[in-house]
Formats: sequence, structure tokens, C-alpha cells
Amino acid sequence: MKTTRLVFKTALKLYILILLVTSSCTREPILKDILESDFYIGTALNFDQILGKDQNSLEIFRKHFNSVTSENVMKWEKIHPELNKYNFEFADSFVALGERNNMFIIGHTLIWHSQVPDWVFEDESGNLLDRDLLLQRMRDHILSVVGRYKGRVDGWDVVNEAVEGDGQMRKNKWFEIIGEDYVQKAFEYASEADPEAKLYYNDFSLCDTGRRAGVVRMISDLKSKGVPIDGIGIQGHWLFHYPSSELLEETIQILSELDIDIMITEMDIAILPRKREYTGADISVNFELKKELDPYSEGLPDSIQTKLANRYSELFEVLHRQRDKISRVTLWGVHDGQSWLNNWPIKGRTSYPLLFDREYQTKPAFNAIVHAVENED
Ligand code: XIL
Repeated sequence: MKTTRLVFKTALKLYILILLVTSSCTREPILKDILESDFYIGTALNFDQILGKDQNSLEIFRKHFNSVTSENVMKWEKIHPELNKYNFEFADSFVALGERNNMFIIGHTLIWHSQVPDWVFEDESGNLLDRDLLLQRMRDHILSVVGRYKGRVDGWDVVNEAVEGDGQMRKNKWFEIIGEDYVQKAFEYASEADPEAKLYYNDFSLCDTGRRAGVVRMISDLKSKGVPIDGIGIQGHWLFHYPSSELLEETIQILSELDIDIMITEMDIAILPRKREYTGADISVNFELKKELDPYSEGLPDSIQTKLANRYSELFEVLHRQRDKISRVTLWGVHDGQSWLNNWPIKGRTSYPLLFDREYQTKPAFNAIVHAVENED
């Protein structure tokens, strides 16, 4: 009797031990836990996700991320579609969702040349505004939007993409009408609306030496004038071959000399071919859809899946190594199905640029990041 009980007890103990070991082996690592002492790890949410229509995405969002950016709902054309009409409904839901989940919330974006209606720059007869009127319109917009979420949105992409590849100021309507100091004004208005919020400049292709030098010049100048700027967002719209690890590391080093926060915003890796080599992320660039430019519409070959995983690993090794200089890394979307890269720079393709697939499962790229980070620790 005693022996039977002993055998039973031992068997039970063994069973529990096996259960424990297997469950800890199969338990999915949690990104925000792994990166907790390094930097925020964020994602961008689209309309459906913000409205709760994509619960699978929200589950991933809550589990793995601790920062959130509005992919589109806070852009001028959405939040302020007409002169006297603001549409705060979706942005309100976005901020509330971020707060409910204790996220570091990023408002994207206040002043940009894209996704801003033409009326912003024109009077009732369609003539271009003068400097003072446009500044007044800019101030009204920033005060209304930033003011509404004062103390609730943690950081704002105040100005997006103001510098060209050659380092000169982009000749957009803000620049043409107001002049170079439109950037300074935008930061000042944002600070007036919420002095506590972090205020960022955000741009793509910041590893290109021309644009990088121009941005460094612009930010140094803003800082020397005492303009309230807290950080720079490197849009991480990257490719297999661009930027190299060395170039990225060098860029982080150079930008860190500005003594402001450095963030990787909008990270994704474009794996689909482009008609001509283009490494930027200007949303006005568009090419025609051709079958050979959409090679993985039926699925992603293992070899490319592995290549993507290796690329994420390589980039995260750099980011993790430079963690003392980086305050946040944000992926541009939760899963492949929602990525803007299915529609840019060519509409209607099947792309695979993120960490979760269309079935909301982790991809090898996810595991590759976990390994890259854990191996370095
Ligand atoms: C993209 C969105 O992801 C798309 O849904 C939208 O149609 C176009 O804009 N740089 C930016 C982002 O700063 O706002 C852009 O987002 C991608 C490039």
C-alpha cells in the first residue's frame, strides 16, 4: 500500500515537473518584457483596430507593446477635414485605448506636406494665404489638437519630413508660404499647447548622408535658438540591403550628438521588388502594378522568410547595442495584413514586412529579435 502511494506521489511530481518545463519552453516570449530595460517597443494602429473591429490585433498589441502611434487618425485630413470642422471621434478612441492599456502614446503627425487638404493653404477664393494667415491657421490647428489631449498624449511628431535628400529644406507649401521658420513655429505652438508633451521631428532615409546632415543642421539651429524639441524619429522604412548595420550605427552615433531622444519610428522591412531602386518612403511615389513585382501573392518562400528574420536580427542587434541612446522602437503596424506596404509604392500587392503574419501568428522574424536581444544580454 505504502509503495503504491510512493509510486503514485513520485509519478505525480514528475508529471507536474514535465508540465512546468514544457510550458516554460513553449511560452511565447513577450517583446515588451524582453526589452523592458532598453526602450519602449511600440506599434501603429489603424482605424479598425482603434474601433475594436480587429480584436486579434488588439490582443497582440496589449501583450507585446507598451507604446502606440496613430497610423492615420490624427493626420490633418482626418482630424481637421474642413476649415471649421474637426473630427475628433477616432483620435479620442485612440487616446482612450492607449490610456486603458498604459501605453506611451504618440500623436502622429501635426505638420506634414502629405495628407493635408489643399484648403489649408488657400483662402475662400482659392488664392494662397499669406505668411501671417497660414501661421494663424497652423497655430489654431496645433492648439486645438494638442490642447485637446494635453497631459494625455505623451509625445507628438510635430513636424514630419521637412528635409530633402540633398539636405535642403523641402519646398512644400509650409516652406513656400511661411519660410524656413515654419518648423520652429510648429514646435513653439505645440509647446504652448502642452508644455509637458515630448516634441519630435520625424523623417525617413535619415541614414542618407545628405538628408542626415541637413537634419542635423536644422535641429542644431533649433536648439541654439532655444526651440523646444525633445527628439528625433528615424522612420525605419527599411529594405533588405538598406541601411547597412554600420550605416545605421553611425547614424545613431551622429544623431546622439544632438543630445535629444532618438527613436526608430515606423519600422518595417520592405521585401518586395521595386521597379527602380528607391530607398525612401515618400508616400507620393507610386509605380504601376505588374505581376513580376508581386511575387509572393500565394505565400512567402521559406528562404525569404529566413532572410527577413536575419535582417530583423541584424538591425535589432544594432538597436539593442545602442540602447542607451534609443528611447523607443515602433513597428509600423501589428501584422502583415494591415501594412501600408501592401499598397505602397505599388497598390494591391502582398507584402510581409512585420513581425506577425496575416493569421496573427509570430513569424521567424519575431523569434530572431528575441534571440538577438537575449544573446546580447
Ligand atoms: C502611411 C500609412 O501607413 C498609410 O495607411 C497611409 O495611406 C499613408 O501614410 N511616413 C509616415 C507615415 O510618416 O505617416 C506614412 O503612413 C508612411 C510614411
